[in-house]
Amino acid sequence: MAMVSPSLLSADFGNLQRDVEMLNESECDWFHLDVMDGVFVPNISFGFPVMAAMAKHARKPLDVHLMIVQPEKFIKEVKALGAAVMNVHYEACIHLHRVIQAIKDEGMMAGVTLNPHTPVDVLEEIASDLDLVMLMSVNPGFGGQKFIPSMVEKTRKLKQLLERNNSKALIEVDGGVNRETGRLLVEAGADVLVAGSAVFNAADPKAEIIALRNL
Ligand code: DX5
Ligand code: ZN
Repeated sequence: MAMVSPSLLSADFGNLQRDVEMLNESECDWFHLDVMDGVFVPNISFGFPVMAAMAKHARKPLDVHLMIVQPEKFIKEVKALGAAVMNVHYEACIHLHRVIQAIKDEGMMAGVTLNPHTPVDVLEEIASDLDLVMLMSVNPGFGGQKFIPSMVEKTRKLKQLLERNNSKALIEVDGGVNRETGRLLVEAGADVLVAGSAVFNAADPKAEIIALRNL
């Protein structure tokens, strides 16, 4: 059993309200919103006005994934959206501990995201401060990429690190997640699966969400 956070990056942007309503009716747990700045990642997605439009219709918690430099500049804006989870990249934060505390001070769950090459060990000293750790299982910037197989073992390592530090942080995995890779991730300890193309390209997205939840 896993939680599922469908990525709206794979939605039909010409029919966003329709796709948000589809997710409202589905069994999904969260809405995953991918923000890109063209600097931290080689792509630009959408920003606050578009997220506010989605938030207006969304009836599930928002899981905001900031693939931007200096994400600490936008804590208040993410809070204003009504987000439940704010995910910042380890690689984008010079003073990560301070950023985590500031997110928690706003009453949001603090999530730290690691790029595929970043070892889980960098979280050893702050593991017990975190509400969530998200592992990228593709290089961030685009939907529809191929899952990096070694991220299954990395998920296992992260699970051990969190247990060792008595951390209750959830493990979320993002990128190339489908029924096959999702099963391996859940076995390795993943709590939350992000899925963009697997959900939105499915013939029956709601059935795909149920299949992913039941892994
Ligand atoms: C990638 C994004 C992901 C992406 C996942 O940079 O962070 O959330 O939308 O898309 P799929 O599931 O298609 O790999
Ligand atoms: Zn994402």
